[in-house]
Amino acid sequence: MTYSLTMILKAIASNQVARFAPSQYVKLTGQTGRGDSTKETPADIAQYFRQCVIDYLDTLGIPPSGRADFLQDKVVLEYGPGDIPGVALLLVAYGARKVYCVDRFPLVSIASKNISVIHELANMLSASERQRFNQCFKNPQAPEVGFNTECIEYLVRPSGVSGLQDEVDIALSRAVLEHVNDLDATFEDMLQAMKPGAISVHQVDLRSHGLHVSNPLDFLAPPTWLWQLMHSHKGVPNRWRADRYEQIIRRLGVELIAFKPTTVFDQSLVTTIRPVLATPFRQVGNEQLTWQGFWLAFRKVNSHA
Ligand SMILES: C[S@@+](CC[C@H](N)C(=O)[O-])C[C@H]1O[C@@H](n2cnc3c(N)ncnc32)[C@H](O)[C@@H]1O
Repeated sequence: MTYSLTMILKAIASNQVARFAPSQYVKLTGQTGRGDSTKETPADIAQYFRQCVIDYLDTLGIPPSGRADFLQDKVVLEYGPGDIPGVALLLVAYGARKVYCVDRFPLVSIASKNISVIHELANMLSASERQRFNQCFKNPQAPEVGFNTECIEYLVRPSGVSGLQDEVDIALSRAVLEHVNDLDATFEDMLQAMKPGAISVHQVDLRSHGLHVSNPLDFLAPPTWLWQLMHSHKGVPNRWRADRYEQIIRRLGVELIAFKPTTVFDQSLVTTIRPVLATPFRQVGNEQLTWQGFWLAFRKVNSHA
């Protein structure tokens, strides 16, 4: 493990900045699920959201021709929409009744570049979809006035949990679960929010988010107490691996629909890092340690009613 003392001290100091000014810290670091936000055009961002919806439906085995029927009148809960609720807007346009977006930080901003993204999204839609899309805004001619809460309701909760009860048909997230501070609490919240029979679909990015030094897995070496000291208030990866999600899913007693890696690291990287892994990761199997990310989808069974 090759974190230098300077890197550790800098990380501890910036953790204190994040502790006392969390929203500003997250805005400053420009966290999105899309990578470097400065290089993206509004069209790129709109395309990203379109692809997110395609990926969610693909993972659930819904063909493009079945999209409108599947989404019709559904209530959706999205964790961590980022700075634009692009997925939520498209889901309503395609037929969902309402989308709740819950975030730990008040990141959504309908200004400047993000207004151009909204126009790009609108341009992707058919006339009837566009009519539904427009209903998401108090004033479709001036999106900055805010959302119509009958279609999109943005909940900012310092705990990151929605507090909804038996209300949603679909719960989803992308590039979020690896950031949540209390993974168990987020899954409990999700299950409470879901109606019996509701489905949940998530893409989780297990990479270091720039916090490794040489081996892309070396961010799993610092012991938990040091990682907390450096990063606990920043919303950086919680470092949980796929085995942790497996345990939670088993405990919740839900019906698994999909659990599969997106891309994988070379096994040689795991072999190199294994001797210095921090305690929580020592029992993770070699194959799961190669996962760079994964898709998880499950159904809440009726006995949870
Ligand atoms: C990397 S961004 C992903 C944004 C968006 N889903 C995308 O794909 O562009 C992570 C998002 O998760 C949010 N987040 C972090 N911790 C959270 C929590 N405990 N509950 C809900 N959202 C959280 C962040 O504020 C941010 O909006």
